[in-house]
Amino acid sequence: DRRQLLQGLNVSISAGPTREPIDPVRFISNRSSGKMGYALAQVARQMGANVTLISGPVSLSAPPGVKLLQVETTQQMYEAIMAGIAAADIYIGTAAVVDYRAALPESHKIKKQADQAIISLQKNIDIIAAVASLPNKPFTVGFAAETQGLEEYALDKLNRKNLDMIAANWVGNETEGGFDSDQNALQVFWHGGRQTLDMTSKLQLAEQLLVLVAQRFADKSAT
Ligand code: C5P
Repeated sequence: DRRQLLQGLNVSISAGPTREPIDPVRFISNRSSGKMGYALAQVARQMGANVTLISGPVSLSAPPGVKLLQVETTQQMYEAIMAGIAAADIYIGTAAVVDYRAALPESHKIKKQADQAIISLQKNIDIIAAVASLPNKPFTVGFAAETQGLEEYALDKLNRKNLDMIAANWVGNETEGGFDSDQNALQVFWHGGRQTLDMTSKLQLAEQLLVLVAQRFADKSAT
């Protein structure tokens, strides 16, 4: 019965974009809608999990029964995730974390000056890599949005970030689903297996992905 697949497990899910201030009125972010992460949170809850959803700014409301932690910056997301990660059995990183922040955000609004301006950027911490390097790491599932080399980049991330599973999808093409779409398709890879999840609603996809996660989690726990 699917309603029991994740019974009693603690599942942490990151979702949405992060947002990095440049000055008090401007920020760096991306087009992530949060839909995939919120769909996963909803279905994981329906499967019996205790779900914590750590979300950047999106226009969605928390699914019923899900604990929502709202954050803005990557550093805030990192701290909110790390604060609860010791109790997590499964971590799913759907957040489109902003890779670079402004090195020195201005405390006042930047004024127009020269025709060209430079913002110095500083690399952000890789949250999922930090989660997956914990001694008691949860079963860790990453996402990879790519515009080229999907399989190669996904497998590279699976190994380099020490993940247990990665779900890869094409972005940048309207017909392929992706960032702001209600639909998506996923190529899922883990150590020793792979599966294609065909284009469907993000809710259906969430269910199919969580069935895979529950199977792999059970297999891993049994070994
Ligand atoms: O390397 P890339 O950003 O493509 O990897 C995507 C995966 O890594 C996603 O699961 C995303 O949530 C996670 N990630 C992260 N922290 C970052 C960058 C990506 O957790 N700074």
